[in-house]
Amino acid sequence: MMKDSIVHFFVLSGEHEQMAEVEVEELLILYNNRPKKISKKNRILIIETKDDIESAMIERLSLTKYVGKIVEIEDVDKYEKIIEKSKSIELQCETFAVRCHKIKNEKEVPIDKINREIGTILGKKKLVDLDNPETEIIVLISDRIYLGISKTKTGYVKCLKHHVNYRPEFYPISLNPRMARAMINVAGIKNNEIMLDPFCGTGGILIEGADMDLNIIGQDIDSKMVEASLKNLKYFGFEGRIIEGDISEIDKIEKIDVVVTDPPYGQSSSLKGEMRDELMKRTMKSIKKKLEVGKRLVIVVPEKDMISEDGFEIKYQFPWYSHKNLTRNVLVLEKVT
Ligand SMILES: C[S@@+](CC[C@H](N)C(=O)[O-])C[C@H]1O[C@@H](n2cnc3c(N)ncnc32)[C@H](O)[C@@H]1O
Repeated sequence: MMKDSIVHFFVLSGEHEQMAEVEVEELLILYNNRPKKISKKNRILIIETKDDIESAMIERLSLTKYVGKIVEIEDVDKYEKIIEKSKSIELQCETFAVRCHKIKNEKEVPIDKINREIGTILGKKKLVDLDNPETEIIVLISDRIYLGISKTKTGYVKCLKHHVNYRPEFYPISLNPRMARAMINVAGIKNNEIMLDPFCGTGGILIEGADMDLNIIGQDIDSKMVEASLKNLKYFGFEGRIIEGDISEIDKIEKIDVVVTDPPYGQSSSLKGEMRDELMKRTMKSIKKKLEVGKRLVIVVPEKDMISEDGFEIKYQFPWYSHKNLTRNVLVLEKVT
């Protein structure tokens, strides 16, 4: 253990465990938390950091369900020790709730008893509020029992407010908000930097970027899509610059730090009469010209071979199952030359 370190738990979503873990690591690095992985079992990732994690970082996470600081970890049959340990918790708030989550637990434990007894112990100091507590006492029951304190909610549930079903301009193949948000988070973009989506469609990626307070620019060849993106962004209270133009015209944009995009593959989204391979070739050429060395392109493609990696290094590759006819591949490419 590092001296004066803080140990945190991250409960990863089963939707894409590998990408969820990378999202946590990449954001911790971006926020200068110098993470050190301690363990990962049953989607519970334990990480040590030197400093506290900013709530802005936690709110960005899209593939992590809960995050908090670890108070104690015990063997499952020693749950009484967890109850005892809860007496040492000093709550820096007025209201709290105890939440127990079973995650692939093998042994049965009396969840109601743990919940009730910790609630009674802490209820002597602060008020219980089950609907909107300031702090959650989290008990994870899995290979072991983890007792933790959580003050900030991740973006896991919140980003679903932007789901296609709730947008005024609807495009059936628009990415799931969790996927769009995670793509941005593995792009290594800092708050004062600029993200471009050159095939923005109805703005699914841009909405998540704006929700995370990033500077966003969208571009699309189709004027109707430009209007749709603007309308969707405005509906959720965001602003952004959206330009009408072909991919080759990103050259005219003054500065771009990262590109996060979902280009058309001709299955459901229009290629505007162009052959897919030709469009991909032009796309990679235009983006390579525009990005600085060390900066990233995160792109979704049905097959990895569709793009030329010339000048880029593949940092990560995440296959993402959408339905039986479509598994998308999220490629994270870093410009090297
Ligand atoms: C898969 S859709 C993007 C979906 C988007 N992620 C969303 O949330 O709605 C691809 C978009 O690329 C646009 N497009 C097609 N050819 C283009 C080109 N040559 N340059 C720029 N945009 C193009 C289409 O108009 C379409 O809106």
